[in-house]
Amino acid sequence: MATIKPRLLLALMENQADGGRRARLCAALREAVRSGQAVLGERLPSSRHLAQDLGLSRVTVEAAYAQLETEGYLRRQVGQGSFVAIDMEAAAPRQASGALRPAGAAGALRLSARGQRMVDTGGCHEPERPRAFVAGSPDLQAFPTGLWRQLLQRRLRQDAAALMFYGDPQGLPALREAIARYLGQSRGVRCHAGQVLVLTSSQQALQLLSATLLDDGDAVWMEDPGYAGARTAFSASGARLVDMPLDGEGATLDPARPAPRLIYLTPSHQFPTGQAMSLARRLAFIAHARATGAWLVEDDYDSEFLYDHQPTPALQGLDDQGQVVYIGTFSKSLFPSVRLAYMVLPEALVAPLVTARTIYDGHPAQPMQAVAADFMNQGHFAAHLRLMRQLYRSRRDVLLQALHSHLPWATPMDSRGGLQMAVRLPEGSEQAYTRQAAALGIATPSLSALYHTAPAIAGWRLGFAALPPEAIDAAARALERIGAHGQYRG
Ligand SMILES: Cc1ncc(COP(=O)(O)O)c(C=O)c1O
Repeated sequence: MATIKPRLLLALMENQADGGRRARLCAALREAVRSGQAVLGERLPSSRHLAQDLGLSRVTVEAAYAQLETEGYLRRQVGQGSFVAIDMEAAAPRQASGALRPAGAAGALRLSARGQRMVDTGGCHEPERPRAFVAGSPDLQAFPTGLWRQLLQRRLRQDAAALMFYGDPQGLPALREAIARYLGQSRGVRCHAGQVLVLTSSQQALQLLSATLLDDGDAVWMEDPGYAGARTAFSASGARLVDMPLDGEGATLDPARPAPRLIYLTPSHQFPTGQAMSLARRLAFIAHARATGAWLVEDDYDSEFLYDHQPTPALQGLDDQGQVVYIGTFSKSLFPSVRLAYMVLPEALVAPLVTARTIYDGHPAQPMQAVAADFMNQGHFAAHLRLMRQLYRSRRDVLLQALHSHLPWATPMDSRGGLQMAVRLPEGSEQAYTRQAAALGIATPSLSALYHTAPAIAGWRLGFAALPPEAIDAAARALERIGAHGQYRG
């Protein structure tokens, strides 16, 4: 039988972009066998010849042959040479076209129904790096990274062995204690550490709730407009979304509708409009959840940042029957990549959800949990929040002033808090204004895109918290050139 030509191996090696010479020769040999260019019984050049032809050392060629023998591609016989050891045609028959099947694909890609639903949602998208007026970013320049580093170093010095092992799937007890204390004191949440489940993000909380509480076709009531991350998580799980338009008191409750399985609310600072839900409406939702057995999910994503008065206490604190699941996140109050968030669960949900979370990922990284616990317990978290509230309040004021001076056609909807401000635009103008803002290099995230069945309001969600005052002012001045009818004035 013929001997494989060194030229073929050289060409195949040249196609391998990565790795050292030995790795590339191994990849070329595998490719020659898998593609049928080297067939069962075919002899390989001697290692001496191949080394000469390819300009490699003989040691490299010997090592590659030995590796391929271990993997089952080659057989080496003392005194006789090296031979292809596998019949690829018999082991993995070609399709009619003659091409080998691409790995893992049986013809057209076929996902599970659940997988397809997930892909169809388009997924979730995190905010871009801060620039005017990307929404949803905290100011990371102001974060005390030096202090965080010291706390991390101390923890790694003292507890490295424990922190590097797997941890409690419910979350580090010290962090759960700190969260329960913080929520009791500043959000009126009634809980103990045993009800806290530490997660990597609110998104993971929503995903976990979908997986454990919702069956295909279950109704989930959502605020309209509302948070896309929650819609995505619930609809990917096969739930049927039912929109609740807003009125002056918050999401509207229609008791005549068939009972939902779950109700998702952002009552303290409605996403995206910023309004707070009235006490009467909160009590009505709790009563309805109790009467129908629905779960009330309260996403309290940014109530650390209310500027003009104390935030309304959490809805969870009004519930004495265990209907409310409370979600909070450190993505905004610490930094997004810390990957720490939490749920406060009614007692009955603790064991099932802790078990379910072990199926996803075990727990968040222990060192980060430990440092977050120290940061909270030593008073740094409260101090950081105080500082950030002041900083963000002053930037909110700069934005309000800039809107007033330069963009009188953009009307703030509710500016009490948050890292972004929803503004109304003249009806029918959003698309044209957005295009013109983009041409000026300014991001103006859409408000109308967050409406579903309720009549959409033209507007933007202007992120301001991460921007220095000069950047807010400069961007507003640049947008001033956009005229009242979507045309440049000058
Ligand atoms: C309503 C709401 N919930 C949750 C989050 C984000 O939380 P996480 O980063 O923990 O997923 C956001 C982010 O903007 C949000 O607007």
